[in-house]
Amino acid sequence: MDAIELLQHDHRMVEQLFADYQSAASDSQRRGVVEIMVRELSKHAALEELMVYPLAKDVLPDGEQAVNERLAEHMDVKKTLVELDGLEPGDERTDRLMRELETEVSQHIRSDEGSLLPKLSEALDQSALDELGQALDDAKKLAPTRAHPGAPDEPPSLALGAPVLAIYDRVRDRIQGRPRT
Ligand SMILES: [Fe+2]
Ligand SMILES: [Fe+2]
Repeated sequence: MDAIELLQHDHRMVEQLFADYQSAASDSQRRGVVEIMVRELSKHAALEELMVYPLAKDVLPDGEQAVNERLAEHMDVKKTLVELDGLEPGDERTDRLMRELETEVSQHIRSDEGSLLPKLSEALDQSALDELGQALDDAKKLAPTRAHPGAPDEPPSLALGAPVLAIYDRVRDRIQGRPRT
């Protein structure tokens, strides 16, 4: 999967989790879905913040503003994830927080897929998109599984690891036409 496909695939999975939550039959099933949601959205947000948005900032003409708006949306999502993470199965706040999360996440997905990702796809060549997709897939195994709203949003602050940053550099070099070693 290239980077765009991978991110869209994540979005579809998250939408499916909201549907799973609705059809869950017990508190423990609902809690199970919430925990998967916290894990998957935390990883997804970290990958975008550390690997995709910095690149978008560099290569899109209006990148800085677009990325700042996306980061503000992420912050709302992450705060809700932290609240959800702290609940016990059957907590009456779960439904309300999941509805809040769904509103925040759909807004986020609309912004990513309606504007930022298509622009990024246009700005990068296919090999860069493939390479970034591979890097995202690898980084997923190392990405944080819980939300950290206080953590900085840019590399290299979070320890996703040097290999990821090296790939990120290579993708950037390719875009900028620098010789690669
Ligand atoms: Fe995002
Ligand atoms: Fe996303």
